[in-house]
Amino acid sequence: MVLTHDVLVIGAGLAGMRAALEARRKGVDVAVLSKVHPVRSHSTQAQGGINAALGEDDSWEKHSFDTVKGSDFLGDQDSIEIFCKEAPGDIIELEHMGTVFGREEDGRIAQRPFGGAAFPRTCYVADITGQVLLHVLHEQILQAGVRVYEEWFATSLIVEDGVCRGALAMEIRSGQLQAFSAKVVIMATGGLGRVYEPSTNSLISTGDGQALAYRAGAALMDTEFVQYHPTALRNGILMTEGARGEGGYLLNSKGERFMEKYAPKMIELASRDVVSRAEQTEIDEGRGVNGFILLDLRHLGREKILERLPQIHELAMDIAGVDSIEEPIPIRPSMHYFMGGIKTDVDGATLLPGLYASGECACVTVHGANRLGGNSLLETVVFGRRSGAAAAEYAGGVPAGNVSEALVSQEGDRIKAVLDRSDSGDSVARIRMEMGETMNRYVGMFRNEEGLNTAVAKIAELKERYKRVGVHDRSRVFNTSLLFHLELGNMLDLAEAMAFAPLHRKESRGAQFRVDYPQRDDEEWLKHVLVRYTPEGPSLDYSPVTITRWQPERRVY
Ligand code: FUM
Repeated sequence: MVLTHDVLVIGAGLAGMRAALEARRKGVDVAVLSKVHPVRSHSTQAQGGINAALGEDDSWEKHSFDTVKGSDFLGDQDSIEIFCKEAPGDIIELEHMGTVFGREEDGRIAQRPFGGAAFPRTCYVADITGQVLLHVLHEQILQAGVRVYEEWFATSLIVEDGVCRGALAMEIRSGQLQAFSAKVVIMATGGLGRVYEPSTNSLISTGDGQALAYRAGAALMDTEFVQYHPTALRNGILMTEGARGEGGYLLNSKGERFMEKYAPKMIELASRDVVSRAEQTEIDEGRGVNGFILLDLRHLGREKILERLPQIHELAMDIAGVDSIEEPIPIRPSMHYFMGGIKTDVDGATLLPGLYASGECACVTVHGANRLGGNSLLETVVFGRRSGAAAAEYAGGVPAGNVSEALVSQEGDRIKAVLDRSDSGDSVARIRMEMGETMNRYVGMFRNEEGLNTAVAKIAELKERYKRVGVHDRSRVFNTSLLFHLELGNMLDLAEAMAFAPLHRKESRGAQFRVDYPQRDDEEWLKHVLVRYTPEGPSLDYSPVTITRWQPERRVY
């Protein structure tokens, strides 16, 4: 039997649930499908907050300019204007839904400074903002009557006559494959951090949505741009930017606040690409502390640390064995966010009819070459809402889908072939680790032609090995080995695209620093790179950057 819905949302993080809620409000039948329970989605890891120009001296124009500058002038300014103009309304709505934002003495929503922002513009709930928002939206979708398929893994999109008509998915509990027919699918599967090792991302952030959309014919855009967060523990666990927003310092082995040298005005609150590169430079030039930089919060005092930063206090204690009230936390940059994604318009429509996308898996593009902290939670709610509304309208104009059940048996054959594969002596875990380390080393903060070519060749080798690797668990019930296998296939396709595009962008901009082309080159490269899937490998195309009112200028902090 085929299951049918008007709108099928794949992914139940903030973007997916916000999209589902909006589509449901428009009166259509909506289902959300997620490989985890909704409140276990990666959005729960978002710590520091969500941006909106709420302050009297702030404005959506100032927020837009900071975002454009943060993007190193690659963000599309029409999208950025919508994003920043609509932000305050979305924050107030989240508050009305029950979000317990931090407050000023007079009762207004409190806002903390964040990197690259000229105003304190980041609304927060201590350092558990994403977790709180996720619970609030989960309540909302249940109340609205959205059907939730939790612990279902989408294996591919159904495309007929060039139109997306649903998806195939596996119920993880039983291993049963199922066809879902939908008038429209919204992809909202979040990030792909686990293409890298280490990463601040959850182990579930494996880019499934980007890979499914890419293989189904939707273009990826801006895949060159990968953000490293300046403050992560050794294993990638995030220490929120809110720590610096609240006044934390970054120190080198000489006890210097070295950021004064790299960003004299904004110091620790320069944009993330600038701070991460500065930290790595200090470490590489011998001014690190055993390969780390120190995040010093001691001067903030016990009360402020425990009130505003309780989660990172506990994480530093549990994972690094450091009490941040008494001693500085050893941190270093770690892969955090993918600015690229499935190319969409401002309403989430992709280049594949019937497929929408929002949140980190999408590329609108408001972040361009570098995202500002606090803008990713905002993206999930602004563009989640917009894509939900647009998808519901699209669903109203197309006939009910009629997908064939035969697709289930074809997909079943593909998965059975993996289960039946004999032991190649290799393992999914080994391939995955080699991929992650290769990406971190050669497609990380500092890149050059030789390194990128090495990464392209290595990913090609890993893809060949992947074709032969099987799984040890051949059962159907809760087969996590099979899931890891399918996730790895998704990540390898994305790694290939992410290593390929930066080779072609021969300039440095935002998060992409080419040591062999250290300058930004607006003449040649003020444009987006689009990547399309072909069985022979990625094919490239370009699209212009939309400039409305801010001409590119030199970017200093
Ligand atoms: O540092 C943080 O709290 C992360 C925020 C973000 O990526 O937006």
